[in-house]
Amino acid sequence: MDFTGKVVLITGATGGIGKETARLFANKGAKLALVDLDYQALTSLAKELDLEDYLLYSADVTSEDQVKSFVQQTKAKYGRIDVFFNNAGIEGKVASIIETTSEDLEKVLNVNIKGVFYGLKHVMAIMMEQKSGSIINSASITGLRGSIGLAPYSASKHAVLGLTKTAALETANMGIRVNAICPGYVDTQMMKKIEEGKAPNQGRIAREKAMESVPMGRYALPKEVANLVLFLASNNASFITGSHYGIDGGILA
Ligand SMILES: NC(=O)c1ccc[n+]([C@@H]2O[C@H](COP(=O)([O-])OP(=O)(O)OC[C@H]3O[C@@H](n4cnc5c(N)ncnc54)[C@H](O)[C@@H]3O)[C@@H](O)[C@H]2O)c1
Repeated sequence: MDFTGKVVLITGATGGIGKETARLFANKGAKLALVDLDYQALTSLAKELDLEDYLLYSADVTSEDQVKSFVQQTKAKYGRIDVFFNNAGIEGKVASIIETTSEDLEKVLNVNIKGVFYGLKHVMAIMMEQKSGSIINSASITGLRGSIGLAPYSASKHAVLGLTKTAALETANMGIRVNAICPGYVDTQMMKKIEEGKAPNQGRIAREKAMESVPMGRYALPKEVANLVLFLASNNASFITGSHYGIDGGILA
């Protein structure tokens, strides 16, 4: 898989999965536009990856203006967007439905649904002009089943699959592919926060319990998820659109 000269836009770029995906794309020759909340973390990432040609943008994906702006700046710098990894997301508070406030609900839906929607809206417009592109949305196995204590998150990831399929249908005859990934448990900050939420001060126990529920007996490495993203972004996936791909060590089997 060669991405030499390809322009790859990643949101949630400094998180566990975003970072490893940025690393793999950079290793394969891509030009990167990296977006996340904290500019300092983005500059550290660019340094760590020893990037030469890149764009860093500190933005909150819940703001349509900010999403529009980083998409336009990417286009202004590179003239095109070949790959969009629409990845920023939050897990929200771990609480049962009856303990979840409307603020808790809104916070998660704003990032995980509105953020993904705005990204699709503004990147698709550019890809439609250039008549090519591949978009990968970060969903989750919780987009395919329920998850005790994570109702807003699960609802939002179901919505990401709806957005993925609709975006795929709206662009299928324009040289654009849109797919989603559905990771299980991935060893990142997000899982640590969920473990702590499920068993306050005893996250290690929640982690062991979660691992026991995985047929392969462990969490995914962020790099394993990044490999799937690169496959879906590449020409090897040229007839794949509107699909979702599990990467869960067998959980949903
Ligand atoms: N870790 C897992 O087990 C797992 C499983 C399934 C799906 N996912 C999904 O994969 C994606 C990446 O998760 P991760 O594990 O790397 O988590 P992470 O917490 O390590 O990274 C998420 C990144 O998104 C950024 N972000 C959050 N809100 C933002 C906003 N409003 N604007 C811009 N950036 C924002 C964060 O700053 C962070 O860098 C998420 O969408 C997540 O839901 C993760």
